[in-house]
Amino acid sequence: MQQPVTRNKHLGLFTAQLLRRPWRIVALAPSSRALGDQMAAEIDLGGAVVELGAGTGKITESILAAGVDEGDLVLLEMNAAFCKLLRQRFPRATVLDWNAQRVGEVELANVRSVVSGLPLLSMPVAVQNNIVGGAFKLMQPGGAYVQFTYGPKPPVATPVREALGLTWEKRDKIWMNLPPARSYVFRKPA
Ligand SMILES: C[S@@+](CC[C@H](N)C(=O)[O-])C[C@H]1O[C@@H](n2cnc3c(N)ncnc32)[C@H](O)[C@@H]1O
Repeated sequence: MQQPVTRNKHLGLFTAQLLRRPWRIVALAPSSRALGDQMAAEIDLGGAVVELGAGTGKITESILAAGVDEGDLVLLEMNAAFCKLLRQRFPRATVLDWNAQRVGEVELANVRSVVSGLPLLSMPVAVQNNIVGGAFKLMQPGGAYVQFTYGPKPPVATPVREALGLTWEKRDKIWMNLPPARSYVFRKPA
């Protein structure tokens, strides 16, 4: 269980970075544990996991609690202050201070799940295509791309879903998240 002082420190860093780069964070607060757990429940525990836009590590906590070994986890995060915190918090995970558009370049075998905390829908379609297309290039067949959203629509734009031939399922809304959010699971049928 995280100590309140630690939680407040992470929240303070998140808020400071939000004020500096609101267009990149696009969230009022770190994800809740309930939302992280909903996303982590979709992970295939038989493989490695890549998390995009890990921030202060809220979803990462749920991924590890679900049973993923820290050594099987790669975190992509382009904010340097968040990367520093992630390296302190999860020393056995690989933290890459990369733009998530480079996810297809990650050198890791047996990736079955990509979990994203990115503000994907606020990104241009071409950028979404690079990120989601890269994730499916990296993953084993049958792999799942898990993305949360605050909005009412699937959080991967229609042209990207169509171009990649993705199917999707939506999960229940987590009302106690700030703001309420739900996750979607995207797959690429063989
Ligand atoms: C909505 S916050 C989510 C943070 C954390 N996953 C959570 O749920 O609390 C979005 C995160 O994505 C990161 N981010 C935004 N665009 C990115 C990009 N193109 N590549 C990598 N990280 C990015 C931001 O720095 C921020 O940490």
